[in-house]
Amino acid sequence: MLAWVPSGSPDEALLRQVDFERLPAHVAIIMDGNGRWASSRFLPRVEGHRAGIHAVRDVVESSARLGIQVLTLYAFSVENWKRPASEVSTLMMLLKRYLRSELDTLLRNNIRFRVIGRPEALAPDIQQELADAEARTASNTGLIFNIALNYGGRAEIVDAARRALVEGVKPDDLDEGRFASLLYTAGQPDPDLLIRTSGELRISNFLLWQIAYAEIWFTDTLWPDFRRRHLLEAIVDFQKRDRRYGGIGQPALAR
Ligand code: FPP
Repeated sequence: MLAWVPSGSPDEALLRQVDFERLPAHVAIIMDGNGRWASSRFLPRVEGHRAGIHAVRDVVESSARLGIQVLTLYAFSVENWKRPASEVSTLMMLLKRYLRSELDTLLRNNIRFRVIGRPEALAPDIQQELADAEARTASNTGLIFNIALNYGGRAEIVDAARRALVEGVKPDDLDEGRFASLLYTAGQPDPDLLIRTSGELRISNFLLWQIAYAEIWFTDTLWPDFRRRHLLEAIVDFQKRDRRYGGIGQPALAR
């Protein structure tokens, strides 16, 4: 594990502090600050998104190598359509380019790519690209990499309620476990660790159901500057916390 970080680096020092027996099973990230990263360099906002791809690549690969089970990145919310059309189309273009250039890396690293959200509202060529990446990585057994696209936490809960109705779930059969099985993240562990970059202290309609017991780690680092070191810092901090799940020391919920 230590072989992939330069010896004597801050990353190595952090890696030595990580307890691999107590890794967060699921890490979810609100990638924020691309626009401010670009503005501070007198660049157009989209340059921040372009730079953000390097952070995505680094975090996906690092999560896979660490042995994290699930990584969820919030790439495009149901509210993001309010942005200028040119910014939306650049984001979609970057996504397409990312998938084309990274598919081999995802395959090589045994990563399973999944889309959560309402992808049916995206352009047909993007949907095709996403579906291809999902299909080609479907049998991978390592990291599950969820990308949240046209995603909203409330929309997800509404979609789950609709599915319950369509599937004819009886009211008496609908408990928390059954409801969770109707969400986009069915079968996956809930996030243990939620990271938000850029100093904003909000949840922004992300994984509202699933983050019930997540530990939250905020950083002032802007997303394009986020790297493995920051992920390791978040994990080390997470492992110092006392998770009580509403109890007094023992998990009150069976996990
Ligand atoms: C928030 O920054 C970031 C986004 C809305 C998009 C995140 C997308 C990427 C990192 C690139 C595409 C992703 C993949 C997985 C290929 P902001 O624009 O809200 O920044 P600001 O708050 O500083 O304005």
